[in-house]
Amino acid sequence: MNYSLHSLIYTVHHLIICFVLQIKLTTFTSFYSFFHPFLCFVIIMEIGSILRFFENKNIIVTGATGFLAKIFIEKILRVQPNVKKLYLLLRAQDEKSALQRFNNEIIAKDLYKVLKEKWGQKLNTFISKKITIVAGDITHENLGVKDSNLLEEMLREVDVVVNIAATTNFDERYDIALALNTFGAINVLNFANKCVNLKVLLHVSTG
Ligand SMILES: NC(=O)c1ccc[n+]([C@@H]2O[C@H](COP(=O)([O-])OP(=O)(O)OC[C@H]3O[C@@H](n4cnc5c(N)ncnc54)[C@H](OP(=O)(O)O)[C@@H]3O)[C@@H](O)[C@H]2O)c1
Repeated sequence: MNYSLHSLIYTVHHLIICFVLQIKLTTFTSFYSFFHPFLCFVIIMEIGSILRFFENKNIIVTGATGFLAKIFIEKILRVQPNVKKLYLLLRAQDEKSALQRFNNEIIAKDLYKVLKEKWGQKLNTFISKKITIVAGDITHENLGVKDSNLLEEMLREVDVVVNIAATTNFDERYDIALALNTFGAINVLNFANKCVNLKVLLHVSTG
């Protein structure tokens, strides 16, 4: 791989991390401008195109209660409210307990304060229009989604699959880690393969 292509891939990778973790663009660009002045131009263009890309898209996010997913979901809702729908996959027995987890472990967090201030009384309407809670488990085929109508809808509508579900316990029992971080990822890949409108599969992991 030549040097400039490698730099570009490296930059886009860091750009996505900045986008998710909300690192100030100015800090990032001044750091990079020291080394790669031409990359600042790429960065500014890319931020705009990432935002535009998410407009009117249906996105499924696995591991929705996790550290990274919560930040990703908040960021999308705040900076791209014209996203079509976010399907949030949570581990739960049924939709009711998945909804309970969403309310207690995601939307109740301080991280969502800015969204609450922005939408005020209209937040619930906005959330119910933009978010569908899905009870599931990535260690199962079709992500363990039991509601066949919802499964059909997702396979028909989803444009982007974001897999952030994992065990992050680095001393995990081998069989559990294998079932989740390896075979779970394969289940997500198989699910993505069946999505007729798929544009992007984003798999996040440490390895
Ligand atoms: N955090 C970082 O700074 C960082 C940096 C680089 C890479 N990563 C990678 O990014 C990924 C996510 O990291 P994280 O820090 O967000 O992890 P996390 O906070 O531990 O979240 C993991 C998520 O996966 C869910 N999950 C576990 N088993 C599941 C299953 N069988 N089906 C569906 N969902 C399941 C968990 O749900 P429950 O709530 O039900 O347990 C939780 O929501 C990992 O692969 C990690 O290695 C993280």
